[in-house]
Amino acid sequence: MKMKKYWILAAIFGWCISQVYVLEIYADNSSRDSAAAGSKAAPAQREKDYVGSKECIKCHEQYYKGWKSTLHSRMEMPVISKGPDKTVKGDFSSDDPVLTFKLEDVDIVVGSRFKQRYSKKIGDDWYMLPGQWNVATKKWVKYQPRNDWWAAEGIYPEEWDKRPTSRLCEGCHTVGFDIKTKKPVERNIACESCHGRGSIHIKSKDKRDIINPSKLSHERANMVCFQCHMSGRPPKGEFETYAWPVGYKPGGDLKKYWDYAKPKGTNAYEVWADGYAHKNRVQGNTFIQSKMYHEGLSCFTCHDSHGSRYTSFTIKSGKNNSLCLTCHGENSPHAVFKISLSEHTHHEDDSSGSKCIECHMPKTGKNAEKWDARDHSFTFISPQSTIRYGTPNGCNNCHTNKNAEWAFEEVTKWKFE
Ligand code: HEC
Ligand code: HEC
Ligand code: HEC
Ligand code: HEC
Ligand code: HEC
Ligand code: HEC
Ligand code: HEC
Ligand code: HEC
Repeated sequence: MKMKKYWILAAIFGWCISQVYVLEIYADNSSRDSAAAGSKAAPAQREKDYVGSKECIKCHEQYYKGWKSTLHSRMEMPVISKGPDKTVKGDFSSDDPVLTFKLEDVDIVVGSRFKQRYSKKIGDDWYMLPGQWNVATKKWVKYQPRNDWWAAEGIYPEEWDKRPTSRLCEGCHTVGFDIKTKKPVERNIACESCHGRGSIHIKSKDKRDIINPSKLSHERANMVCFQCHMSGRPPKGEFETYAWPVGYKPGGDLKKYWDYAKPKGTNAYEVWADGYAHKNRVQGNTFIQSKMYHEGLSCFTCHDSHGSRYTSFTIKSGKNNSLCLTCHGENSPHAVFKISLSEHTHHEDDSSGSKCIECHMPKTGKNAEKWDARDHSFTFISPQSTIRYGTPNGCNNCHTNKNAEWAFEEVTKWKFE
């Protein structure tokens, strides 16, 4: 690390290595972690039923309040179009032709940050109405998935009312979804999504009756988040037409229920050819490629599921560098500069060009709009990736009036200690 290296050599070498690395990580089923899982097996949980988050308030009020402040607690909401508890973001008075349904058709409101979708009950199931409200642009856009594997392969027909949410959505948006009754215990990502069933624990108060992800092996712990934040599909078998990992429980081995989407060497729906985020909810797919994952970091090293005052409940601010500088600050073993930030970033210390996340977690994926979702592979996406595949890179996300060739030439001049 002390040796001076020119970035151009590093970039070419790094790129080659990263390609081998990406494929390897996906190929080896993470033998290191499996070994770890064996030596530190998930505690056997005496489990019974889901009880819902309200049952936890009595003894864990602070955790409950914190969790309530996160978007995990506001995923599927009742229709409230007025007042302080308003949940509806879309403008239903709009004459936009994309809006083909009325507020009266809506039974459940889904999401609120990037986009909002609307669900209607028909028979014993729920279906997503064919329009979506994009929050940042305040616009209606058509909602008719074509590229998800289950749409692309024609497993579900194009009509919105032939695509039941019990199969395509609910396992990731609710707690304890029962595929027979098509009903959840709670319409949220709540305590038991991450801690497992609580009915025995609420009586025994015994910690052996509940899962604490931080006590699982590194791989199993991250799987708790991956069950929803890792794009993929079920393996062939009974549940192959479900779009969520039916049967997975916190502490269990997600790989038995879910085949992770992998980079294909060409641009794919989930990830760009080089493995970077092309969609939202691929944090798992991208994070497992990173050095930080392999050095033992977890999703919850940076995110506090019980709330924080920062965007996306990060434990410290991601925007002003304090999160990253916890471990990469000047006096840490992973320091990236000795005296001033600009040694590393080649921008003034207080420039937006000195924000870690803008270069190392650039927005490369589509959530509601191109590109609004942050990559989680924590590398530096070379402008070469843009030239090769069109993957957005951090430099040109800001320097929009310059091209990738320019950015590549500029960054090539930089030296790293
Ligand atoms: C009647 C009180 C009570 C209720 C209700 C309760 N807990 Fe607990 N919980 C405890 C106590 C006491 C401990 C600490 C046990 C110990 O340290 O031995 C604990 C510990 C935990 C832990 C840490 C376990 C560990 O291994 O570190 C988690 C996670 C947890 N509870 C989650 C929940 C969830 C989720 C709910 C709701 C489904 C819930 N608890 C409801 C009393 C309760
Ligand atoms: C999105 C996943 C997620 C949700 C939802 C969630 N937790 Fe946790 N919880 C975690 C993780 C991960 C840990 C371990 C790391 C940490 O403390 O952040 C944890 C740890 C805990 C602990 C143990 C803390 C300690 O000191 O060891 C308790 C108690 C707890 N959670 C209670 C709750 C309760 C009650 C709820 C619902 C109101 C809840 N959690 C919701 C993921 C979650
Ligand atoms: C495999 C799990 C999974 C499935 C299946 C799934 N989602 Fe999601 N969904 C997520 C995750 C995780 C996020 C947050 C991802 C992010 O921000 O990158 C999300 C986010 C969303 C959002 C945006 C929320 C916001 O506040 O902007 C909407 C709307 C949504 N999902 C609707 C759906 C619908 C409709 C379906 C079924 C057709 C579906 N999802 C299926 C896991 C899933
Ligand atoms: C049961 C599915 C599920 C699990 C388990 C889950 N998430 Fe999520 N997560 C979601 C969905 C769905 C959303 C979108 C919520 C919304 O926008 O209303 C989301 C959103 C988020 C967000 C963005 C919140 C924001 O303010 O924009 C973060 C960060 C996040 N999850 C981290 C985690 C971490 C860390 C874990 C594991 C400890 C985890 N999630 C476990 C489904 C899940
Ligand atoms: C809990 C400590 C911790 C935090 C917080 C942390 N990192 Fe790291 N990071 C590490 C470790 C450990 C490594 C691997 C060893 C090394 O390269 O020094 C690493 C490596 C990296 C690398 C090099 C990856 C590679 O492939 O060579 C980048 C880039 C990086 N981190 C960016 C970030 C960014 C951006 C943030 C903030 C969003 C951040 N880190 C937050 C501990 C951390
Ligand atoms: C203007 C863009 C830019 C910003 C801002 C930036 N970096 Fe980097 N960073 C790079 C480039 C370029 C590399 C070299 C990548 C390579 O060699 O493949 C790099 C490399 C790294 C590495 C690997 C270092 C090594 O010697 O292996 C780490 C860790 C890292 N950055 C962390 C950070 C942290 C933490 C911040 C915020 C304090 C940050 N970076 C801000 C562009 C940036
Ligand atoms: C090294 C720290 C770090 C790790 C590890 C990490 N994240 Fe993030 N994550 C961030 C930061 C920083 C942001 C952006 C926060 C902001 O906008 O201020 C973010 C944003 C998000 C968002 C919001 C969507 C977006 O595109 O901005 C979700 C969802 C999310 N992370 C989920 C996860 C999940 C799931 C994992 C594990 C697979 C994970 N994160 C691992 C630092 C981290
Ligand atoms: C978050 C936004 C942001 C990112 C990311 C960013 N820059 Fe900048 N850059 C700026 C701003 C703002 C300036 C104006 C001077 C300043 O504030 O330091 C600038 C100035 C520059 C300059 C000198 C002035 C010019 O326009 O010729 C160069 C060269 C440059 N950046 C190259 C890069 C390269 C290469 C990368 C990627 C490794 C990069 N920047 C990433 C915002 C950014």
